[in-house]
Amino acid sequence: MIVLAAGQGKRMKSDRPKVAHRVVGKSLVEWVLRAVAPANPDSLAVVLGHGADAVRPLLGTQPVVGIQEDQLGTGHATKVGLGVLGELDDDDTVVVLYGDMPLLTPELIKSLVARPDDTGVVMVTTDLDDPSGYGRILRVDGDVVGVVEDRDCDSEQRLITEINAGVYAFRAGALVEALAAIGSENAQGEQYLTDVIGILASKGVKLEAVKADAEEVIGINSQDQLAEAGKILRRRINDGHMVAGVKIVDPDRTYIDSEVEIAPGATIYPGVHLEGATKVGANAQVGPDVLARDSQIGDDSLVWYSVLRSAVVGSHCEVGPYASLRAGTVLADRSKVGTFVETKNAKLGEGAKAPHLTYLGDATVGSGTNIGAGTITCNFDGYEKHATVIGDDVFIGSDTMLVAPLTIGDRAITGAGSAITKDVEADALAVERSEQKTIPGYARRRAERQATKKAEE
Ligand code: UD1
Ligand code: CA
Repeated sequence: MIVLAAGQGKRMKSDRPKVAHRVVGKSLVEWVLRAVAPANPDSLAVVLGHGADAVRPLLGTQPVVGIQEDQLGTGHATKVGLGVLGELDDDDTVVVLYGDMPLLTPELIKSLVARPDDTGVVMVTTDLDDPSGYGRILRVDGDVVGVVEDRDCDSEQRLITEINAGVYAFRAGALVEALAAIGSENAQGEQYLTDVIGILASKGVKLEAVKADAEEVIGINSQDQLAEAGKILRRRINDGHMVAGVKIVDPDRTYIDSEVEIAPGATIYPGVHLEGATKVGANAQVGPDVLARDSQIGDDSLVWYSVLRSAVVGSHCEVGPYASLRAGTVLADRSKVGTFVETKNAKLGEGAKAPHLTYLGDATVGSGTNIGAGTITCNFDGYEKHATVIGDDVFIGSDTMLVAPLTIGDRAITGAGSAITKDVEADALAVERSEQKTIPGYARRRAERQATKKAEE
């Protein structure tokens, strides 16, 4: 099998090689490799050229790479691919496809690999309302006799709505022979792989055309097509979750990457982005408006209007609205991180709560502990980060500054508004603030002074 991915993708108007553009969490070429993997090709070659160094790391270890130094066309690229694919018998099947087709499905690829022995090529076509940009299928008496590229079409050919998808299963011998015969006398001065079709047809080789669903074979040439493909991929992913019993309130406004796992019974509200290796447990409620990347949300937890990055949320937890859980955050079961709370490298024990306006960085919080509103772990001294360790069932008063390194023992209490710089032992109260002074009648006297001043003006 050969995947052609050497082109620049000029129509993307971007420095990044086309097949490295990402959609729904993966690059175009990764989507293609994912679709072909279940067909288990004996050997797989990817042809790279423009931006090869940027694309190669996306390929994993499986394919061999052929380098097409100058991008002389898809026919030339196929020759490069054949050059690295290894020995082939004439009767072997070689599947050739383009690296800019993220919507390919494993089913379509598998159906091609089963090419009948007497057929020179099985190619995929589809009908499009707007076929512009694609190669058109030429038929005589119903039989495919060739492909003409968009830029080479005459005015009549331009009206043909059956297009070449760009996925072919060739008989190896027929492909090699026809490739040797292609030229580059066309609008783009390129060696077109598509010319092979006309050459085979003129030799009377048996051709077969399979019609696929347009949504499986759209090639991505421009940013708007990339966005369109994203919509289709997301819908497939969302449909899969809904079939499995996940409630998605508005699938058009829900953005779930392909590797995300969601247990049946979870509810996903609009505006949710679940990215990377994120997992959501049964009966969890996620959203509205959550971004969770490489994070876990446990069973029966509620996470709304919040951002989670490499965070682990246990079961029966509550997060948000407006919480930011950064890398290394681990919330044990039944804990709570509320409004305008940021955590980083912070572990909260079972039932611990930080309900409002708090920063917990490099911190461990024991089970049952309550963190008062406005508490800050001062973890950074301008040079280094330090840890704060808070025991079980501690009561941290509102607006406490916890200047790390610091340890607060079990069941201790800190007075509201304290800047705690020294360790606090278990069961103790630590208060650090000046004593309150109350001056009776002061406010009234002040008001009287103001009134006298006004009267004198
Ligand atoms: C191609 C087909 C067209 C088909 C369409 C389907 C040809 C000549 N035309 O047109 O019939 O309808 O796809 O989407 O094949 N590539 C290389 N080396 C090159 C040129 C291209 O590896 O020298 C790769 C590109 O990276 C890309 C793929 O081949 O992944 C297709 O090239 P592209 O320029 O997108 O072809 P289209 O004009 O879309
Ligand atoms: Ca294309």
